[in-house]
Amino acid sequence: MTEGKAAARLPAALESRRGDVEGALLAILPAEGAEPRDLVAAMRYSVLAGGKRLRPLLFLAGAEFSGPDRLPDDAIEAAAALELLHTYSLIHDDLPCMDDDGLRRGRPTCHVVFGEATALLAGDALQTLGFELLATRPAGDARAARRARAVAWTAEAIGVQGMAGGQALDLAATGAVVPDAERAGLLRRIHSLKTGRLIRLSLELGALHAGADAGRLRDVSRYGEALGLLFQIADDLLDVTQTSATLGKTAGKDSIQDKLTYPVVFGLEGAFRERDLALAAAREAARDLEGDAGLLAGLAAFAAGRDR
Ligand code: IPE
Ligand code: IPE
Ligand code: MG
Ligand code: MG
Ligand code: MG
Repeated sequence: MTEGKAAARLPAALESRRGDVEGALLAILPAEGAEPRDLVAAMRYSVLAGGKRLRPLLFLAGAEFSGPDRLPDDAIEAAAALELLHTYSLIHDDLPCMDDDGLRRGRPTCHVVFGEATALLAGDALQTLGFELLATRPAGDARAARRARAVAWTAEAIGVQGMAGGQALDLAATGAVVPDAERAGLLRRIHSLKTGRLIRLSLELGALHAGADAGRLRDVSRYGEALGLLFQIADDLLDVTQTSATLGKTAGKDSIQDKLTYPVVFGLEGAFRERDLALAAAREAARDLEGDAGLLAGLAAFAAGRDR
């Protein structure tokens, strides 16, 4: 296959951890049939629908190059918590009051199957379960200070100054007239907040639990910032270049809803150029962290060149 045509893949070292992530998710979700039945079924339906599992894998990648400590076995449950937080954001993002989407991860969306009230609660309950795990894993008194930092960082990253704030800005910009001079700046801010912050956090938490020092954490954050922006620029591009069947979500949805996206602000070619600039920034930040090892650079290539 020639380069450019082949969709980029996750680096093999991370791909090989996917099974561990799936196992952790099964272990931490309430059991099938548990009460309240509808709520538990909705949580399991959305989390166990597949998905790239990128954020837990980023946690593991963040630990790889950043700190002296080997992660204890139960750190995988802290990594999996990030997938619960991400799935919560997807369930709410798809609600009729937000993006009003009917397809996610190749299935009808949570609210289509379980109703809006249960979907709302499934998102709420996944968020709180995510925080519970971050407050308790990895276990042990010696790790209490790191867990406390993880919880505080997570609250900041997905709250009003982070993901939730970004989603609010996204909704406010949808269908709105934004002055030309402000469009690119606003768009970058929306993408960094609504998507970038959780991606950056995932890497940071892995680094934190691996004992990274302040300098290392700064480098991880810089890489995470670049990767997060790159990831959402690619998401905007996939919306216009891919089919719903490949994406597992509704293609062409952004223009139907009049979203402020990279193809809208920069044109399709301009958006590809912006993607390549973001890729270069992520690769440069990766080099500072890992030298020639290539895992983080490979992740950036995946974020840019994936087909879903
Ligand atoms: C989709 O995220 C929503 C965005 C933040 C762009 P992913 O592309 O990681 O979706 P899944 O987890 O693989 O379904
Ligand atoms: C989603 O952005 C960001 C969050 C869920 C926080 P999008 O609205 O572009 O994601 P998709 O395209 O529906 O997956
Ligand atoms: Mg959205
Ligand atoms: Mg959406
Ligand atoms: Mg999108």
